Amino acid sequence: MTIETVGVIGAGQMGNGIAHVFALAGYEVLLNDISAESLEKAVTTIDKNLERQVGRGKVSAEDKAAAMARIKTTLTLTDLGQTDLVIEAATERETVKQQIFDALLPHLKPTTILTSNTSSISITRLASRTDRPEKFMGFHFMNPVPVMQLVELIRGIATDQPTYEALLAVVNKLGKTAASAEDFPAFIVNRILVPMINEAVYTLYEGVGNVRSIDESMKLGANHPMGPLELADFIGLDTCLAIMNVLHDGLADTKYRPCPLLTKYVEAGWLGRKSGRGFYDYRGDTPVPTR
Ligand SMILES: NC(=O)c1ccc[n+]([C@@H]2O[C@H](COP(=O)([O-])OP(=O)(O)OC[C@H]3O[C@@H](n4cnc5c(N)ncnc54)[C@H](O)[C@@H]3O)[C@@H](O)[C@H]2O)c1
Repeated sequence: MTIETVGVIGAGQMGNGIAHVFALAGYEVLLNDISAESLEKAVTTIDKNLERQVGRGKVSAEDKAAAMARIKTTLTLTDLGQTDLVIEAATERETVKQQIFDALLPHLKPTTILTSNTSSISITRLASRTDRPEKFMGFHFMNPVPVMQLVELIRGIATDQPTYEALLAVVNKLGKTAASAEDFPAFIVNRILVPMINEAVYTLYEGVGNVRSIDESMKLGANHPMGPLELADFIGLDTCLAIMNVLHDGLADTKYRPCPLLTKYVEAGWLGRKSGRGFYDYRGDTPVPTR
């Protein structure tokens, strides 16, 4: 299975980072979104992030130019049909992902490996509704993709060994490190991380601490590089809530119930950095706690 061309669906926070690292590693990338604005913003973000890497001496100006030239964008999903590997990184909602696969499958060449960057949805279930469950895998990048070293590889029940090995080789070519996780809700990293974030929101909800004291406590008391609420804003509160709901439904254990305050922030459209406001307000020069 030679992989040279990669289709990325969804040009949000994760999609632009995935396009960035694949283009830099020499893959031809076709980036798709339903929003022309998201595609434009993604290309600008990739350019800016690559420029930062050039400034730090991590990437040469020639390699940056070559990477930018390898990224093409399209609003037409079916244009991705001839790529060797597809990475779905659209909104964390199963119906959205399902509709994408349904629309893409009739146009996809038989050898294409199909993957999802989902943070929590069952890979086996997503795979079972496609024509290629043996060539379907979870391909879970961490945010921000150009910086984070880990990629979780999640095999569905039907995923075959050549598909797993092909993705392992891709991870190596990207210069990243793979961790294999079994297909249970939220896999490894988010199974541990997101309930901790949810507990931090409960700590806020119950008035045990305010936003600043909770984040300071975990940074200085547990040596975390970022406080849990700051991290939640970074991930996106809608994504955090979606992951808690998947854990709650999938493991049927009340210890995973999402904090009502997390739900409230999402209802308000305060989704974190990407919407300008979450547990902090990012609209000024420095982030200001909202509670
Ligand atoms: N944010 C994180 O920290 C993180 C980390 C790892 C994995 N993920 C996963 O990555 C995926 C994307 O998350 P994100 O943070 O980039 O979200 P995001 O909201 O930043 O971006 C989602 C993008 O998908 C696009 N989209 C929606 N429907 C589409 C469709 N039908 N076809 C094409 N594009 C469509 C939207 O226009 C948007 O640009 C989710 O599955 C999420 O769970 C997120």
